[in-house]
Amino acid sequence: MLSSPSILPTTHSKWSARQCELVESIANEFILSTSKLEALSKEFIHQMHAGLGQDKSKDLAMIPTFITGRPDGHERGCYLALDLGGTNLRVCLITLKGNHELETQQKPFKVPEHLQEAHVSELMDFIAISIKKFIANKHINAKIVEHRTGSDTLELGFTFSFPVAQTAIDAGTLLRWTKGFNCPGAVGNDVVQLLQDALNRKEVNVHVAALVNDTVGTLLAHSYQNPNTFIGAIFGTGTNASYVESAQSIKTMKTDAGEMIINIEWGNFDKDKAFLPVTIHDNKLDRESINPGIHVFEKMISGMYLGEITRNVLLHLIDHRVLFEGTSSDILNQHWAFETKYMSDIEKDSSSTLIPIAQVLEQKLGIYLNTQVDREIVKFVCQLVGKRAARLSAMATAAVIRQGLAHGALHSHGYPLKLDLDEKDDADKGTGSSEAIRVGIDGSVFEHYPHFKERMQECLAELLGSHANELVQLGIAKDGSGVGAALAALIAAKNTKSA
Ligand code: BGC
Repeated sequence: MLSSPSILPTTHSKWSARQCELVESIANEFILSTSKLEALSKEFIHQMHAGLGQDKSKDLAMIPTFITGRPDGHERGCYLALDLGGTNLRVCLITLKGNHELETQQKPFKVPEHLQEAHVSELMDFIAISIKKFIANKHINAKIVEHRTGSDTLELGFTFSFPVAQTAIDAGTLLRWTKGFNCPGAVGNDVVQLLQDALNRKEVNVHVAALVNDTVGTLLAHSYQNPNTFIGAIFGTGTNASYVESAQSIKTMKTDAGEMIINIEWGNFDKDKAFLPVTIHDNKLDRESINPGIHVFEKMISGMYLGEITRNVLLHLIDHRVLFEGTSSDILNQHWAFETKYMSDIEKDSSSTLIPIAQVLEQKLGIYLNTQVDREIVKFVCQLVGKRAARLSAMATAAVIRQGLAHGALHSHGYPLKLDLDEKDDADKGTGSSEAIRVGIDGSVFEHYPHFKERMQECLAELLGSHANELVQLGIAKDGSGVGAALAALIAAKNTKSA
């Protein structure tokens, strides 16, 4: 007897009882109710506080970035910027024109796969040579780019999208690699120094003036266009966010400034899986990854992993003989062969026959025998995995906003948003003159995964109340991290002058 058949798609009447039963039990594990998310959000805030304190065993690193204050769009200057986020490296020349305007020239370089696990000096040499090529091709010199007084050295902002414990705006040691990278010689060392050494080795006359995480770059870039930006987040190959914290809440350092941007490193939320609703399919993925037990939350949300979770679920259904008549394919049997992009293509298909899904199954996965019911099940599994990712993303975003409302930078604004599910929803109360809280977001999942943004918004409203969709604006900050790196280099230069 099925307890709540309504969680299955309306077409399930054509499914067999066994198909309904198995798919429903998977759905029950993946569907996250508002109250479950509320409990997670409370725990998230709890772990944020632990991270801001001296607790050594923290899950959330809550890294002070040494960036105080946010751009307001009036900044001017021309900087080199470097963005290493994953397999792509971008070298950019960013001209900040003031008046929220800017110009970007950029060149992407593909990081050869073997460098992801080579000694870090090889990776840094590759980066230094890429910068050298960019400077030569674009005829960049000290007349164009900002440089330190009296020298021809060009100033560069470096966006490095991995967890780094910053010790200054231009220094920080790598805590761990993520997203498939594992280069020896880097963990525990200063990544700015590693890059500067490579630039010196390759005789590239560039000074690394600032180091930022990609989420911080995104926050700064979004803020240049939209001054009320409070969070910068990435939902791409990996996931993370940074936000503006009031200085008095940061117990791990002292600053005279009123506020500082904190890199949360939320991919590592609840690393012991005490609260996260991990399924056997998530555990299998984690165990088989190159960093088991690390960034479990990230592994439930980001583009590097969603396809693999889906593959695990599909294989489970195949092994129980309720999908594709129990037959897999050589491709589907391969680790990581089901790309997150296929999920996007599958979720996009709203036709009645689901023929586009058949094309993905045949052309990408070598599954030639698939019935309409098979395709409905595959689509439903993608929806479960994709929706859970969006709702967990919204849960973390809501937690960060609540932290800002209760203790931090948003506290004095009196936003009519709920700090707790039990709180009254002031639906009738106007939003007054409150300016929307802006969240600058970059990353392929947010940009391209169907309904990701809408699913996040829906969940934000469940947690924060009916004003959330007006008061929390999720905006794309495409390629923001390059612009953000330039803004960080500018902030670093200002700091040096005023010191
Ligand atoms: C890294 C973060 C980064 C995020 C998004 C994670 O794997 O730990 O530092 O911000 O990916 O790129």
